[in-house]
Amino acid sequence: MPDDATERTSSPFVRLHNVIKHYGGVVALDGVDVTIQPGEAVCLAGENGSGKSTLIKILAGVEQATGGEVHIGGVRHTTLDPRVSAAAGVMVIYQDFSLFPNLSVAENIAFSRELTDGEKFASQRRNKQLARKVLERIGVDISVSERVENLSVAHKQLVAICRALASNARLIIMDEPTTALTEREVRSLLGIIRKLKDDGIAVLFVSHKLAEVLEVCETVFVLRNGKLVADGPASEFDAASLTRHMTGRDVPDSPPSTAQAVQNLLLEVSELHKQGAFENVSFSLREGEVLGISGLLGSGRTSLAKALFGLVKADSGTMKMEDNSIALGDPLAATQAGIGYVPEDRLTEGLFLTQSIVRNVSVGRLDSHTSKGFLNLQSLTGEAADWLKRLTVKAPDIHADVKSLSGGNQQRVALARWMARAPKLLILNGPSVGVDVGSKADIHDIIRELSQQGIGIIVISDDLPEILSVCHRILIMKNGQLTDEIASGTIDETELTHRLAS
Ligand SMILES: Nc1ncnc2c1ncn2[C@@H]1O[C@H](COP(=O)(O)OP(=O)(O)OP(=O)(O)O)[C@@H](O)[C@H]1O
Ligand SMILES: [Mg+2]
Repeated sequence: MPDDATERTSSPFVRLHNVIKHYGGVVALDGVDVTIQPGEAVCLAGENGSGKSTLIKILAGVEQATGGEVHIGGVRHTTLDPRVSAAAGVMVIYQDFSLFPNLSVAENIAFSRELTDGEKFASQRRNKQLARKVLERIGVDISVSERVENLSVAHKQLVAICRALASNARLIIMDEPTTALTEREVRSLLGIIRKLKDDGIAVLFVSHKLAEVLEVCETVFVLRNGKLVADGPASEFDAASLTRHMTGRDVPDSPPSTAQAVQNLLLEVSELHKQGAFENVSFSLREGEVLGISGLLGSGRTSLAKALFGLVKADSGTMKMEDNSIALGDPLAATQAGIGYVPEDRLTEGLFLTQSIVRNVSVGRLDSHTSKGFLNLQSLTGEAADWLKRLTVKAPDIHADVKSLSGGNQQRVALARWMARAPKLLILNGPSVGVDVGSKADIHDIIRELSQQGIGIIVISDDLPEILSVCHRILIMKNGQLTDEIASGTIDETELTHRLAS
């Protein structure tokens, strides 16, 4: 195997030449050249909507290029479909991982191998053997009999990687593989990517976290508006130069948050408890205050966020907004009390993908644009359009379906939708997951602006620089309990990392 891998390094595994992709009038890729060597880790960087996912879809055979040449394994493919692409060794791990939740780890890993070998009824024992072998290859210990639905996101992702390995992948593609992972899990994924490289397997990945990109990749390709604007060895880039290529401008580091003037009490949470998720949670929030809640995966932070919005019903405890009690486990009551919630997984929980962009933003705003029973469609659309502009949503037409937007632009639509409702308290779970560096700074500016208008904001995030730059106060959550409270400006990133892990 290693001999074979070194032999192959002489010719590229993938060569895209002058690839063009049009979606109707939209030019998603405009004459792009990319080569990937066996065993090479390549990063595709670019702002939201720059064409990264489109390039991946072309390699995977999910979309056909409008023009140009696609060579895989030395063969030119004029028409590619997902089966042909997989047979050539290109495996894509999508964000939902496309696993079968009710089947075991072993069955999932052996699945595509059975298809390619035509062995429909491979024995359980053989499946398990195969699964153990690939799990061992990447040095991961997961029970092969466990049902996939019981696994953490990070483990599901590893199972998807193992499935690709089991069907002899030569290029594994991951589109934003680290967005749903915590720092520690990201580290372990990066270690696994290194092992794959050593095995001669190429890895192409998209990420908005530039530090991790530069750490694990040999080669970087930067797209801007569908064009390749820079490429070369990762060692020749740093976060600032990458950002400059992506955006065409300098993006300053966010300043640390400054202390906030004392305001009226907005939210008071007392002794909130949910069996198996969190206990004894008490805290309060003032108008205009930005409160960060940070904790490792499994710390209970997402359950707590959902409980505050009534999506999860706490067993006991009380919640008051402006001194009025809110019923627990009742999202409608929470909404009426002025609470808004932007979920972390906005693509599946937060949007109506097959409805128009403008409609997604105006949902819940009908009341305020209705007078004497008549809906003022123009003011409704105008308001939505304003928010889309403030969040710089890149869309050819605001009446197009949300699903035609790039991932990061869909995230912004979800944010616009809640901001348009002018809540008194906004709970943001991972406010900048999936958005590029330039827009992350914009979203942080908007959070500061909303706070100045007196809106209370709870930010739940793993992104420590983000927490440090927007929050006035930070609560740390561990094993379902709030363990630490930190005032902004009194701590740096290293110290915060330390407090989270200790
Ligand atoms: N099915 C589609 N129909 C119409 N336009 C599309 C479609 N898919 C993508 N586009 C457009 O093509 C362009 C590139 O989108 P793509 O999804 O490749 O961006 P991306 O670089 O992956 O962005 P992100 O970082 O936000 O995920 C965008 O302008 C997008 O709106
Ligand atoms: Mg994308």
